[in-house]
Amino acid sequence: KKIIIINGPNLNLLGKRETNIYGNLTFMEFFDSVVEKYPNVALEHFQSNIEGELIDKLQEVGFTYDGVILNAAAYTHTSVGIGDAVKAITTPVVEVHISNTFSREKFRHKSFISPNAKGVILGFGLQSYELAIESFTSN
Ligand code: DQA
Repeated sequence: KKIIIINGPNLNLLGKRETNIYGNLTFMEFFDSVVEKYPNVALEHFQSNIEGELIDKLQEVGFTYDGVILNAAAYTHTSVGIGDAVKAITTPVVEVHISNTFSREKFRHKSFISPNAKGVILGFGLQSYELAIESFTSN
């Protein structure tokens, strides 16, 4: 299966950003361990701090890949454009968040991704991504 993890703004700072919330691991350290754990999954990763680049990537992969795991980070709560892109593509999108956004500020409770996502996994730290991979591999 061909699956891509798409990460939005500031997630390039994982490991040094608000480590009490997001943990000490860099995304690449985590990603390498997951790639090793799922040898039968062709797993890719893309990160951008730029809204349009995230939309471009969703359009690029969204008609051929088997799954998209999307953590749009702050754009989750603001971006009609990314929400529309998720709706436009045919590849199923699982929305992921490291933190439990519902236990945080009110502005994090709104998601433009959720209405068009296959499912949402949040609050399990980096394991949220792994659970999303599981959701694609177990069927
Ligand atoms: C996040 C939650 C968002 O509210 C926040 O803006 C992020 C990360 C998460 O993974 O917990 O940057 O998407």
